[in-house]
Amino acid sequence: MTAAPSRSAAPQGGAVSDKSLDWLGQQILKNRFIPRPSADRVFVGDGDFLLIGVEFLNWFVRLGNLKPSDRVLDIGCGIGRMALPLTQYLEAGSYDGVDIVADGVDWCTQNITSRYEKFRFHHLDLGHAIYNPAGKKATVDLRLPFADGSFDFVFMTSVVTHFHADDVRAYAREIRRVMAPGARLFFTAFMLNAPAREGLRAGKGAYSFDGAALEPEIYADPANPLAGVAFDENYLLASFLAVGLRRNQQAVYGRWSGRATPGPSFQDINVLGIDPSIRPASPAIATPRGP
Ligand SMILES: C[S@@+](CC[C@H](N)C(=O)[O-])C[C@H]1O[C@@H](n2cnc3c(N)ncnc32)[C@H](O)[C@@H]1O
Repeated sequence: MTAAPSRSAAPQGGAVSDKSLDWLGQQILKNRFIPRPSADRVFVGDGDFLLIGVEFLNWFVRLGNLKPSDRVLDIGCGIGRMALPLTQYLEAGSYDGVDIVADGVDWCTQNITSRYEKFRFHHLDLGHAIYNPAGKKATVDLRLPFADGSFDFVFMTSVVTHFHADDVRAYAREIRRVMAPGARLFFTAFMLNAPAREGLRAGKGAYSFDGAALEPEIYADPANPLAGVAFDENYLLASFLAVGLRRNQQAVYGRWSGRATPGPSFQDINVLGIDPSIRPASPAIATPRGP
């Protein structure tokens, strides 16, 4: 077996400075011991596999205040693109990833859990027209295999872009249930708002979404809807507000739509937290009673 990569000098507990985060990113990109799946096994999109993971480590820390001690849940973990850089950052913390593609989960277990025991990967056999057509259960009936309040940081990168609105609502309910007090939810999406629609109508978008469409959920390719889904921003946000989450900060809008003033990422980035003024309504997320 390949030797385990050397762990970073990421500080424990509190926030990490921009300088040490930049340094850590450079170390990860240079680290030849970090395992990578062969190109023919990668099913999560194009681009430089490790570079994209390092980019998102930056966003997790800078926008989502991810700490080395956080307990992290990665929904739609794919084949470890986000997990690999996190092995060099999460020290006292832990990581759980869930995905519906068994091959990705197997690769991660064999190549990441074998070196980092606090990184665990779980297969969910949920149906999806592209990623798991023979899946036995529907995402709307989802129950994540974790106890209430288990995580400090939950993320979904390039996953909501492959969901219908019902799937988003099911995950929002379960995410809220597993979030600990003070936890953050970080997710990327294609969000339709006035500047995004304008960019799409001008033909500047990266995909063929129809900027004139009035529906709250639209597809880049209507013949293959789940290949790329964009949501009206307020409609999407309502699914998370309904379960007691709120926006911690303004979204960072990306380049995908061809909007006039894009931020530095490709997809739009959202960071939500628990709204302390809303008590959980569902028994599934009610605070357990004492003895
Ligand atoms: C474009 S890939 C992104 C993977 C990963 N988040 C990344 O950025 O490398 C979309 C991922 O979402 C996963 N996925 C789709 N539907 C899912 C569901 N209902 N539950 C969990 N994962 C799902 C797919 O299997 C796939 O790994």
